[in-house]
Amino acid sequence: MPLQNTSDSYGAFTKLFHWIIVVLFAWQYVSGNIMTGMERGDTVAGLGQNDYYNWHKSIGLVALAIAVFRLLNRYIGRLPGWAPTLSGGEKKVIHRLEQVLYLAMFVMPVTGYIYVMAGGFGVLLFGEYKLPDPIGKSETLAFYGKWIHIYAGYVLAAAVAGHLFIVLRHQLFMKDGLLFRMLPARRK
Ligand code: HEM
Ligand code: HEM
Repeated sequence: MPLQNTSDSYGAFTKLFHWIIVVLFAWQYVSGNIMTGMERGDTVAGLGQNDYYNWHKSIGLVALAIAVFRLLNRYIGRLPGWAPTLSGGEKKVIHRLEQVLYLAMFVMPVTGYIYVMAGGFGVLLFGEYKLPDPIGKSETLAFYGKWIHIYAGYVLAAAVAGHLFIVLRHQLFMKDGLLFRMLPARRK
């Protein structure tokens, strides 16, 4: 498998970044909902609320770093041609959805970061390193950071659902192997 995309397939970097982000974002949704839903002193799967906050913030910042590499990789390289089975309408929808997905990869971690810094909560990276706070306390920034973080989370979830719907419709009903374009060993 080539490292970079070619004219008819995604390369190893694109596939690796894609699936790392899927796993990290799945964790972000799970941890985000657990930590905001539990009480102080509760534990879920052996972890307390502080642990979930720490891991949510830390993994979220790792996801931001990966999003930077992913975007660079997309700009430096080329994109493979469209899958031949996509209709004109689907191509337009996919194009818009991908813009939303890329935007969310930055808006989510950046607003989360602004919220915790401006709110005075800070980030203890992986429970070890206290990150410097270049923002300082600001109620207004914390307010907007938090609400954009929460509502952008819903927009992202809707975009991922649309993305998944198109992929699964092709893979399971049209049986054209669209999913294989993003899997390590491309079979189609
Ligand atoms: C990278 C992608 C990220 C995703 C997909 C994500 C997703 C989420 C979700 C789904 C929630 C639950 C929202 C709700 O209450 O309904 C949440 C909450 C939260 N996130 Fe993130 N997050 C990300 C990154 C970050 C980062 C980098 C930070 C901070 C450095 C952060 C800080 C927070 C905080 C403090 C909350 C709790 C907000 C509240 O009190 O309601 N997040 N996040
Ligand atoms: C289980 C969930 C997912 C599956 C099965 C899946 C599957 C796929 C497949 C098969 C493609 C290639 C489509 C083509 O032929 O062009 C693709 C592309 C893409 N996916 Fe996903 N995806 C998932 C989740 C996500 C998530 C969570 C994001 C972002 C937050 C995302 C962002 C993208 C983007 C931006 C592309 C275009 C290629 C690129 O620039 O990386 N996907 N996905």
